[in-house]
Amino acid sequence: MMDLNTLMPTVSTFFIVLSAVLVAIGWRLAIKRKLEQHQKMMVYAAVAATIFFIIYASRTIFIGSTPYNGPDGLKPYYLVFLLFHIVMATVAAVFGITTLTLGYKKKFAKHRKLGRVTSIIWFFTAITGVMVYSILYVLYPAADAKPLFDAIFG
Ligand code: HEM
Repeated sequence: MMDLNTLMPTVSTFFIVLSAVLVAIGWRLAIKRKLEQHQKMMVYAAVAATIFFIIYASRTIFIGSTPYNGPDGLKPYYLVFLLFHIVMATVAAVFGITTLTLGYKKKFAKHRKLGRVTSIIWFFTAITGVMVYSILYVLYPAADAKPLFDAIFG
């Protein structure tokens, strides 16, 4: 049985991947001009991304972040990679909200341009997210999460 420390990131990583798959399907629907279905699919993708974010944020607040447990020599590379992933995830979130807003406001020319960029960043966020997950929980599983909550309140 997986402990909560591993279960929460496993579930949240699943939701990022699901969200990226839904974006890919939604993009395909837009290209095929199935625009009502496109809109629905992208809303599902946004819901999946929101579920990811809620799980990720509550874990970070209440349990903490998992420290890197791999070889010391690789740590700087891991940290740069992690930073890259975090920056992309943040950009994807802001662009995603903007893309949705442009869609609802029927500013379709802008929506189409930004939507393509957003989708691609979203895919890279999911791929790098799975890689970070693999490093922390599959390749070099650590004993414990560092309790951010305890560090602040304990
Ligand atoms: C984060 C959510 C969304 C993303 C990432 C997204 C992405 C895209 C992409 C990539 C295209 C261009 C397809 C192509 O030609 O390559 C597109 C087109 C389009 N999207 Fe979205 N979309 C999203 C949400 C929405 C919503 C909520 C609506 C409606 C309210 C919508 C309506 C449309 C329409 C009408 C087009 C065709 C625009 C045109 O070709 O002039 N989309 N979207």
